[in-house]
Amino acid sequence: MKTTISQVSRHVEQEITIGVWLANKRSSGKIKFLQLRDGTGFIQGVVVKSEVSEEAWEKASELTQESSFYVKGIVREDHRSPSGFELTVTDLTVLQIASDYPITPKEHGTEFLMDNRHLWLRSSRQHAILRIRNEIIRATYHFFNEQGFIKVDPPILTGSSAEGTTDLFHTKYFDRDAYLSQSGQLYMEAAAMAFGKVFSFGPTFRAEKSKTRRHLIEFWMIEPEMAFIEHEESLVIQEQYVTYVVQSVLENCKLELKALDRDTTKLEMIKAPFPRITYDKAVELLKEKGFDDIEWGEDFGAPHETAIAESFDKPVFITHYPTAIKSFYMKPDPEREDVVLCADLIAPEGYGEIIGGSQRIDDLQLLEERYSEHKLTDPAYEWYLELRKYGSVPHSGFGLGLERTVAWISGTEHVRETIPFPRLLNRIYP
Ligand code: 4AD
Ligand code: MG
Repeated sequence: MKTTISQVSRHVEQEITIGVWLANKRSSGKIKFLQLRDGTGFIQGVVVKSEVSEEAWEKASELTQESSFYVKGIVREDHRSPSGFELTVTDLTVLQIASDYPITPKEHGTEFLMDNRHLWLRSSRQHAILRIRNEIIRATYHFFNEQGFIKVDPPILTGSSAEGTTDLFHTKYFDRDAYLSQSGQLYMEAAAMAFGKVFSFGPTFRAEKSKTRRHLIEFWMIEPEMAFIEHEESLVIQEQYVTYVVQSVLENCKLELKALDRDTTKLEMIKAPFPRITYDKAVELLKEKGFDDIEWGEDFGAPHETAIAESFDKPVFITHYPTAIKSFYMKPDPEREDVVLCADLIAPEGYGEIIGGSQRIDDLQLLEERYSEHKLTDPAYEWYLELRKYGSVPHSGFGLGLERTVAWISGTEHVRETIPFPRLLNRIYP
């Protein structure tokens, strides 16, 4: 019977067939240990010379790394193996003997691995990280659907900027100008006025000249937007969502977390509610920690975020940033005009900001004022202003960066490993 590695537990002591690639091979005299992978997982196949035909033994001897074949064998329970199973090989049918594979299980430099990203994806480490990414996406759809959100897809080609004009990717749109989306937020606000609670999941683009372990040029964002939801209520939804995602990965990606040596005790503590600290308090905390350079009114950099996160073992919300350093659409605190009703969620262990969100301005006149203060004159915004004319309501939303979240949960140092084909400042190949 043809099956997959992920399904072997259903076939203990039965003979099965799986289409596989050879990840690695060890021989000791009359036994060969084949590390097999089929995309769903990894399993060890054992070929014993005295128990297979001479032809099968010959074929097993010829296999090079990444050779493809159908393996036939009997599933055995094996408590020493990470997956809990092993395959006693009875026969194999070769599809292709692979050419000399450039990535051997030994160490390679990062640039070499990035040049070979199309092949590097096959490694057990990349497999584990990208399966965790998949679980986060699955849990996201589940969470928001359960909470009554509907998924709405904002456009990728847009006529204006959502998050600021300096890092826009420009393209031609026939005889007009267009930009790649930096955020679907403005469209999601329109959608929230039509459907109440909505979320999007899609690629976003920032032509940022940042070369850090947290920045991608193309990254994926989850953007919920909610009508009749105020700032504090939005924070509760954010902490419940992040808790659900972390607990889902703990539950459904045990093998992957183990393959990555992730310290899961740190993840087990991630349960709502999360601590909240105002920007004012964060500045004080930084001064206490010896950051003499930071002044009220300045934005935080990665070292500041890391220092603040160190004081907590859960993600921490930094709220009420100065109006001057945040986007034009954020609603000022009614009790204090110099700060806005916003929050960044900072992940523990130095992984930085994973969510940026806020309550949005719902008053037309105020939005128009803020709009001209930011020197935004783009007529493409007219439709956005119009949302405040026809039944404007308090509403809030946020954006979670998928790759930074994958990096944190999987314990991966650099975001380049958390997306199949990363676009970085100096890289668009492969
Ligand atoms: O804080 P940002 O810029 O917020 C927005 O775009 C809002 N319009 C979202 C909203 O309210 N709907 O981006 C949101 C998140 C960040 O917290 C971060 O996790 C991620 O997107 N992010 C990046 N991830 C990787 N590479 C980059 N260059 C990123 N820029 C932002
Ligand atoms: Mg932000």
